[in-house]
Amino acid sequence: MSKIIIKGGQSLSGIVKVSPAKNAVLPIIAASLLSKTPCLIEEVPDLADVRTICSAIEFLGARVEKEGAGLKISTPLVESNEAPYEFVRKMRASFLIMGPLLARTGRARISTPGGCAIGTRPIDLHLKGFCLLGADIKQGQGFIEARADQLVGSRIYLDYPSVGATENIMMAASMARGATIIENAAEEPEVVDLSNYLNTMGARIKGAGTKIIRVEGVEELTGSEYSVIPDRIEAGTFLAAVAVAGGDVVVDNVISGHINPVLAKLQESGVDVEDGEGYVRISGDGGLLPTDIKTMPYPGFPTDMQPQLMAMMVLAGGTSVITETVFENRFMHVNELKRMGARIKVSGRTVIVQGVEKLTGAKVKATDLRAGAALTIAGLAAEGTTEISNIYHIDRGYEKFVEKLKGLGADIIREE
Ligand code: UD1
Repeated sequence: MSKIIIKGGQSLSGIVKVSPAKNAVLPIIAASLLSKTPCLIEEVPDLADVRTICSAIEFLGARVEKEGAGLKISTPLVESNEAPYEFVRKMRASFLIMGPLLARTGRARISTPGGCAIGTRPIDLHLKGFCLLGADIKQGQGFIEARADQLVGSRIYLDYPSVGATENIMMAASMARGATIIENAAEEPEVVDLSNYLNTMGARIKGAGTKIIRVEGVEELTGSEYSVIPDRIEAGTFLAAVAVAGGDVVVDNVISGHINPVLAKLQESGVDVEDGEGYVRISGDGGLLPTDIKTMPYPGFPTDMQPQLMAMMVLAGGTSVITETVFENRFMHVNELKRMGARIKVSGRTVIVQGVEKLTGAKVKATDLRAGAALTIAGLAAEGTTEISNIYHIDRGYEKFVEKLKGLGADIIREE
């Protein structure tokens, strides 16, 4: 089993370049199924999740070819209407195939994703959307099937601004007859990026990035060339790492407007942050003030940065309160951080962190993707050696994570 081994105590310096956003590229790859002609996605990060979604669309008949740092996706013909369990089991985001597959062929059968470590993660809002667009939904043993000879535009109110539901509905509605209005839509930058991509393919979508998205259905979408936004969570992860380890680093390829709440929290905790053009420079000596965090849908503080910020707060000089409102079980990193000496109490969806002066390296395991990032951050600051197992979680969403941290001077290796 692969491991990451870190000897803590090195400060970080230099420049690190952020990769294209995982959570933008996954729906964009799924959306490529909507076109009969080839799509070119320039620069695609080399991640396990990207490989999973590519295998899933290849299974349906798409041809995925490397083109430089990007991918060319051609689907002249859809050969299967079914995404089997082996893909959805590996990655819940495989469910994003449902919207485009339904719109393209009138039928989509996807294995049910089930729960995952961070929560039950239902898909009721995705299905509510497809249903309102006129699809017949059948739920069987372990699968969901949607059928519609012709999707018809509709008004869809989301009870919660779900990122995945907004994306799935937007993709399906882009080839429906007539107009669709998605109300209480998710406003995440990745939703905007998908909308921009669909529009380059000929879709007519307005309002992405606001609570109301209007999609005017078109008959056909065609291939286009597209460049994906940088990964705001990867950027935030490096910033948190420098905040804890100390040093002076330029995090390059950042749209700082996408990480305002993270920058605000870094500043509140006493770190120096310079918001440059396309980059953020961060410097500090590792000394941190406590700060409270409450996760919320965008533009609130992102749940995907909660574990990393917790890893910072365990070393702050005082008490911080962290509240998780997006997922009901996203505190699995707490017990692992405690094994390194953190003082944390969990009470329902709230965590109270009492900062300690030092952490001590230990053997810990990554329980999910961002938990793995948090443990790495803690390991950079801990005294002695930290050994992180189950790092396949980290491989799902961080490209060359160990190499990038090593490039900044961290004493970190990966052992296969
Ligand atoms: C996406 C991101 C994930 C991030 C999350 C929240 C991708 C591939 N993943 O996940 O990294 O943590 O947004 O920012 O982009 N919900 C329902 N019913 C639904 C759908 C969701 O109740 O039909 C609930 C979920 O259980 C959760 C909340 O809504 O409590 C947010 O989920 P959602 O925004 O859908 O997250 P994902 O799209 O799965």
